[in-house]
Amino acid sequence: MTITVLNHPLAAHYLTHLRDKTTKPANFRLLTKRLTVLLAIEATRSLEIHLREIETPMEAIESPILWDPLVAVPILRAGLGMLDPIVEFFPDVSVGYIGLERDHETAVASSYYAKLPPQMHERTVLILDPMLATGGSACSAIATVKAAGAGRVLMLCIVAAPEGAAQIHAQHPDVAIFTAGLDRELNAAKYILPGLGDFGDRLYGTEGV
Ligand code: PRP
Ligand code: URA
Repeated sequence: MTITVLNHPLAAHYLTHLRDKTTKPANFRLLTKRLTVLLAIEATRSLEIHLREIETPMEAIESPILWDPLVAVPILRAGLGMLDPIVEFFPDVSVGYIGLERDHETAVASSYYAKLPPQMHERTVLILDPMLATGGSACSAIATVKAAGAGRVLMLCIVAAPEGAAQIHAQHPDVAIFTAGLDRELNAAKYILPGLGDFGDRLYGTEGV
């Protein structure tokens, strides 16, 4: 299984504060962005580069520039919390959106929206969703971007359950997963343990609404 868990004290520190139930939405959003930066740096390590001729004030050199045109696809709604830093660090990125919602009783995700950029063909696609629980939402999103012609697909999440990672591996063994934390298990309601609760609710302050 291709899963990379961030192995960095700063990521671990941010994740601890994100998990803490006393963390309020404003700080939760900030921590989400910071963790996404660390995930993006790790996930894009193997992006294609090309050499460009430039002149420094001292001499002419050939120097690397990013070449892979990226597509980012946040899964609504929680994945939106990860989009800002991706757009900031990769200003040429194209963005698509996939709306999926888990049924509260069955935990099965159903689709309510999809809008992908026309230029998906052979592009590297970053799927953004902070929680990988059963893997139902992620697998559905991966199937959607592949059907639209995506090339390499990378899954960026903040917390992953072993069950979700195994599900992606079973359905899409070519997809590499990047996560800040690989947790213990799912509970009976298919929430991640120890996890951090409902990500979307904590991001948008809708707990108990
Ligand atoms: C959460 C989360 C993932 C999904 C993960 O979304 O953001 O999309 O659950 O669970 P899975 O791996 O079992 O599919 P949710 O459906 O609660 O919607 P929301 O982001 O709109 O709150
Ligand atoms: N979605 C969440 O927001 N949290 C979980 O623990 C599982 C799915």
